[in-house]
Amino acid sequence: MNQQTAQIDAHSAPNHERSPGQPVNHNEDANHALSIRVRDLNLWYGNNQALKNINIDIYQKNVTALIGPSGCGKSTFLRCLNRMNDLIRSVRVQGLVEMDGRDVNDAKMDEVALRRRVGMVFQKPNPFPKSIYENIAYAPRMHDLVSRKAEQDELVEQALRDAGLWNEVKDKLQEPGTSLSGGQQQRLCIARAIAVKPDVILMDEPTSALDPISTATIEDLMDKLKKQFTIITVTHNMQQAARVADYTAFFHLGEMIEYNDTRMMFSNPHTKKAEDYITGRYG
Ligand SMILES: Nc1ncnc2c1ncn2[C@@H]1O[C@H](COP(=O)(O)OP(=O)(O)OP(=O)(O)O)[C@@H](O)[C@H]1O
Ligand SMILES: [Mg+2]
Repeated sequence: MNQQTAQIDAHSAPNHERSPGQPVNHNEDANHALSIRVRDLNLWYGNNQALKNINIDIYQKNVTALIGPSGCGKSTFLRCLNRMNDLIRSVRVQGLVEMDGRDVNDAKMDEVALRRRVGMVFQKPNPFPKSIYENIAYAPRMHDLVSRKAEQDELVEQALRDAGLWNEVKDKLQEPGTSLSGGQQQRLCIARAIAVKPDVILMDEPTSALDPISTATIEDLMDKLKKQFTIITVTHNMQQAARVADYTAFFHLGEMIEYNDTRMMFSNPHTKKAEDYITGRYG
């Protein structure tokens, strides 16, 4: 028996025939309409290969968590989904990233439209140096989603309500976004991301700079937002992945080692590497 077989035998058997990209075990509570299909995705920064043959199906209106040690390619992978890696000169990408059946790397794909459909929230809250109101209203105006002032006001209020921030800021909408606390700023950035009505929201360690109460608020928010949006989040916090994610993907040295129903990933991982990482044996 080779080492790989031995590893798999020691762990759970998959409960269905899988094709590349599918999770090892299905989560019965999750939605399974396909949002993003990634096939044989490889990415190099110069000569350094950062993503190796990634295959994953990401489902709509779920939370999918990406976990794995520092430098394993999680942020790089997220950036492939809205072509933010295009902004880095040394990058070369091979393989397919399909969103709602369309190849995002197709020359005909409108990058501005793509980034409207795939929003992003970063580790460090980064409000624009503008008012709370303008932080939300600016992008929808640029994308012609609102014309009249009343429409804009309504959209700003709705985005702030959906991000759980309205009650805290409704009386000071003209104050600078940067005057808010870190946790409030992160919710402002979430409000800004959802204001353009994206399909997918990418979150790269969205709570790692926040205190435990703000973190809990954002976790609750993710649970609510997944009713409207597909969320893909990166976290180094295993408890957070276990709490918020329907599916979890474990990355290691540029490879996606395991993609599984979150409960199975944390209770009975399919691969030894995922088990070692989750139980803190390395990473
Ligand atoms: N702009 C870049 N130019 C060159 N190499 C890069 C660049 N960004 C990332 N890399 C390299 O690609 C690999 C994956 O990095 P990435 O930032 O995707 O990891 P990560 O899993 O997000 O790590 P972390 O958990 O620390 O955020 C690393 O080897 C990193 O050094
Ligand atoms: Mg990262």
